[in-house]
Amino acid sequence: MIELQDVHKSYLLGSVPMEVLRGISLTVGQGELLSIVGASGCGKSTLMNILGFLDTPSSGRYLFEGRESSDLDDEALSRIRNERIGFCFQQFNLLPRLSALDNVCLPLVYRGVGRSVRIERAAAMLDRVAMADRMNHKPSELSGGQQQRVAIARALVGDPSLILADEPTGALDSKTSDAIMELFSELNRESDITTVIITHDPDLARRCERRVHMSDGMLVEAEP
Ligand SMILES: Nc1ncnc2c1ncn2[C@@H]1O[C@H](COP(=O)(O)OP(=O)(O)O)[C@@H](O)[C@H]1O
Ligand SMILES: [Mg+2]
Repeated sequence: MIELQDVHKSYLLGSVPMEVLRGISLTVGQGELLSIVGASGCGKSTLMNILGFLDTPSSGRYLFEGRESSDLDDEALSRIRNERIGFCFQQFNLLPRLSALDNVCLPLVYRGVGRSVRIERAAAMLDRVAMADRMNHKPSELSGGQQQRVAIARALVGDPSLILADEPTGALDSKTSDAIMELFSELNRESDITTVIITHDPDLARRCERRVHMSDGMLVEAEP
């Protein structure tokens, strides 16, 4: 479902190019649950941004559902971002003025789904992540783990084929982190959504069927 072939990414530091990704090749099949583990600064978020079409490779190929990313125009890219991919971040990125329910409705607003259908789907998704009784709470009235559950519901409400989670447990204590990882793996088992989770915690990564280690801009597949 996604395939990277010899992807490189460089940034200019002043006038000096700095290579952050140094030849990444990776194939992830539909429905796989994959973790990418690596130390801070090794290029994990840069890789995630490329997978999510938030950034482009300096060289190499990226194929998403069989389509070559460099062949896609801006409209096609934003459609993939909005309709095929769900994002989760370390800081949850919920809108503070909106209730949990309205946060989860947002991706459907952008897609022109009518209000009653939006609310029905968002409420069902909040129920799935065990947040049905907190639907009308604002993010500031929720714990970190609860906010991440709402963010996961928001990522899933549009029925994506790929979930990208960049250190989704990075701001949570270890017990809550465990519960959030369990939720990702349950959702992966019961749907067919390809899930890529970035973490720097090897214990959490071990819960994924497939693990890839990243170091200094390169990937190494871990033993099964
Ligand atoms: N937009 C950017 N411009 C310049 N350097 C960047 C940019 N984004 C990331 N970097 C650098 O690339 C390296 C990898 O960053 P990142 O992908 O965020 O690592 P990780 O997520 O593994 O901590 C870091 O040294 C970072 O400073
Ligand atoms: Mg990062």
